[in-house]
Amino acid sequence: MDFTLSEEQLMIQSAARDFAQNVLKEGVIERDRDMVHPTEFIAQMGDLGFMGLMTDEKYGGAGMDTLSYAIAIEELSKVDASTSVIMSAHNSLALWGIEKYGEEELKQKYLPKMTTGEMIGAFCLSEPEAGSDATSQQTSAIDKGDHYLINGTKNWITNGKKAGAYVVIAQTNPEIRHKGINAFVVDATADGVTTGVKEDKLGIRSSDTSSVMFQDVKVPKGNRLGPEGFGFKYAMQTLDGGRIGIAAQALGIACGAYELALDYSHQRRAFGKPINNHQAIAFKLADMAMEIEATRMLVYRAAWLKDQGREYAQAAAMAKLFASEVAMKATVEAVQVHGGYGYVKEYHVERLMRDAKITQIYEGTSEIQRLVISRNIIKGSTYIDMA
Ligand code: CAA
Repeated sequence: MDFTLSEEQLMIQSAARDFAQNVLKEGVIERDRDMVHPTEFIAQMGDLGFMGLMTDEKYGGAGMDTLSYAIAIEELSKVDASTSVIMSAHNSLALWGIEKYGEEELKQKYLPKMTTGEMIGAFCLSEPEAGSDATSQQTSAIDKGDHYLINGTKNWITNGKKAGAYVVIAQTNPEIRHKGINAFVVDATADGVTTGVKEDKLGIRSSDTSSVMFQDVKVPKGNRLGPEGFGFKYAMQTLDGGRIGIAAQALGIACGAYELALDYSHQRRAFGKPINNHQAIAFKLADMAMEIEATRMLVYRAAWLKDQGREYAQAAAMAKLFASEVAMKATVEAVQVHGGYGYVKEYHVERLMRDAKITQIYEGTSEIQRLVISRNIIKGSTYIDMA
């Protein structure tokens, strides 16, 4: 088994690390405090290839693999998880499905603008009454012959106020439940599209989360993604890939917290020696390092399976579940290693701890990941497909 990263993967790792450390780090505390969207960096991320990292070069993308994508998200998340989720939702939840299931004309219209970062994408699945229970869609998409008419409200939409293109999941025929659901690209400039207030969140505060409302929005037939009635499976497939992005984000948050804790443990002295010479602290660092390594294996493997064209839904759910729980634990421990300093903003770890929490919630809660995994193993999927 070869764990060596390719030259291309090392290149993206180094570019993402430089960008995170030299660009994003500056002002990250203030952006978090004041909920300031990192708009000024989006074009730069487009230039670096981050805004279309897995999209084909013919649409202006970087055409890289999922593993490169996970590595880039990991590096950004070590420093600024708000910016990494903007990138993750844009790439995994918007671009991926438009490229895979959109008609050529639709792709030509949206992808080149999206891969430069000129236009941001968002994914509208959750509703006030449909979160984990995603088949209970209330948003309607009525077939009017040459177009659909969309009505409804979507909640917790990452990039909600900044997006130029929304991928919207809506119900066309409630009688056949999930088989009546469709997915569409809806332009943010379409008549009847409005957004709610920017949510004042615990973490990832500088990313933009809001509700998005659709009132009698006319959507051309050509904006449907995939065949009639495919929308629920479309959403599930999108989330399978999205979960690799969030797992990579959680990995990066854990890693960022661990690196800060390790660094601090060398500098801070207590009882006449650096605190990492005390077993109470040294063992915390050992556990963090081990759990981060285990997480990285799960995340990279899920990405690799997707790149191989193999089944990855279960691997993505495992990676996301494990990574988010490790992120929570590692960030709490990083605050503890810092003592009182960990509790103030200047030392970054309290922000990472707040950011970690959402990785256990969005793109499927930890409970939903357990449901996905258990359903898979009970119906007989191979636990570890090494073949
Ligand atoms: N790929 C393809 N098809 C899938 C699938 C997958 N991964 N998972 C399920 N399906 C198919 C099933 O095969 C079934 O199809 P058939 O009837 O043809 O067999 C159909 O979808 C319905 O599946 P279930 O019967 O399993 O549906 P369910 O109601 O029991 O729920 C669920 C399944 C896994 C719980 C799903 O509802 C789910 O994932 N919920 C969580 C939703 C979620 O993650 N939301 C996050 C919102 S996005 C976000 O966070 C926004 C952001 O901006 C960051």
